Amino acid sequence: MSILITGGDIVTAADRYQADLLIENGKITRIGLDLSSIFVAERVIDATGLLVLPGAIDPHTHLDMPFMGTRSADDFESGTLAALHGGTTTVIDFAIQSKGHGLNEALDTWSGFAEGRAVGDYAFHLAVTDFNDQVSAELPGIITRRGVTSFKAFMAYKGSLMIDDRQLLLLLEQCGRHGGLLSVHATNGDMIDQRVAAFRAQGKTSPLYHWLAQCELTEEEATGRFLDLAHLCGTPVYIVHLTCEGALNKVRNATKRNQQVFVETCPQYLLLDASLYERGFEAAKWVMSPPLRLAKDRETLWAGLRQGLVQTVGTDHCPFTLAQKETGRNDFSKIPNGMPGIEHRLELLHSEGVVKGRIGLQKLVEVSSTNAARIFGLFPQKGTIAVGSDADLVLFDPREEHEISAATHHHRCDYSAFEGYRATGRVKTVLLRGTVAIENGTAKIGKGFGRYLARNQFNPNR
Ligand code: URP
Ligand code: ZN
Ligand code: ZN
Repeated sequence: MSILITGGDIVTAADRYQADLLIENGKITRIGLDLSSIFVAERVIDATGLLVLPGAIDPHTHLDMPFMGTRSADDFESGTLAALHGGTTTVIDFAIQSKGHGLNEALDTWSGFAEGRAVGDYAFHLAVTDFNDQVSAELPGIITRRGVTSFKAFMAYKGSLMIDDRQLLLLLEQCGRHGGLLSVHATNGDMIDQRVAAFRAQGKTSPLYHWLAQCELTEEEATGRFLDLAHLCGTPVYIVHLTCEGALNKVRNATKRNQQVFVETCPQYLLLDASLYERGFEAAKWVMSPPLRLAKDRETLWAGLRQGLVQTVGTDHCPFTLAQKETGRNDFSKIPNGMPGIEHRLELLHSEGVVKGRIGLQKLVEVSSTNAARIFGLFPQKGTIAVGSDADLVLFDPREEHEISAATHHHRCDYSAFEGYRATGRVKTVLLRGTVAIENGTAKIGKGFGRYLARNQFNPNR
């Protein structure tokens, strides 16, 4: 199938210019002016008045994830389909090792969740919850043979996902030795555990105490400690879902010693704040870790994006339905942690970032697509609009207004964390590897279209 896209404004992390695109066999084969006078394609899509963006990449999702006695509400079919509706053509999900088991087993399990189901393209990070001898032995092959080139450690969720500093050091060393990038959930699990226990002992059981138990210091401390451990090992690292000023200041300090550290934040930390925890049990909708922060932290994060200290915006999409959240009605520590968000990242960032003048269009592309592709070894196959790249494209109307609502979104969660938000800018058409995936709100591809992406190793010079 060949497609010509004419008259659109192409936006990359570096440029904005008007040109046509020729797509053949899933790839971009020509970029130029007036291509329709030279080439005949099977289909022509008129993109006049629209922006043409590279397909967005979500580097942080939890689809079909077993967690806190339940399972996240979207599987790879519903999750990647919702992502596509919002212009996200690739997700990088987390395969999670079971304690006492190996990494290949975890990857096999998660591949089983995704294969034949995913609608959009997908890759995996591997979360290490127990650095045992088998993990040490398997890690090099996970990188070279299975194309999983980034790992993750949890410094919190004591008793389930958390590893201690000794294990963290061993993992950092092994990643450093074999060219793996280590990402981290950086909050202090012991501090949180103690504060949760203290609140529960005082009968303080509402979601408000989830927030208070995970105060800014719990993240600031862990971020600083992690960066020191990584510095000791010389391993490049990536901090997932960073939320606050204190933690970002630790990153700022680490960059002064020329440490290689990448930072991700999420739309919820850029748009929402902790005042939502005053809504009684309704606040369970926003019980996630780390929790929402204060208005001053939101401003710090926007500044971090502008300054290049924060490189990516992922969603940490980990949806639980209202019925699943009910488990913690009488005890906030039992509310499954996580929030839906996979569908609207691009539109929210455009509306709140570009339209409000906080970031430019190139920055939007950089933080929603290009940087994730570069950091996680997918560039230039993904993350840009260039001859030879996959034709993963989003035709975006920067002026159209619409309301975000659970009544119209496509993921399986029965609430929206951004209910009622009026967004300016809307995804109109999405192409995945040269095939129209979404057109005017309708899916044109289905289950099993998504491909697994084996990734290249982190390249510090890319
Ligand atoms: O609350 C969250 N973020 N749930 C998903 C797991 C994680 O910590 O990323
Ligand atoms: Zn996390
Ligand atoms: Zn997460």
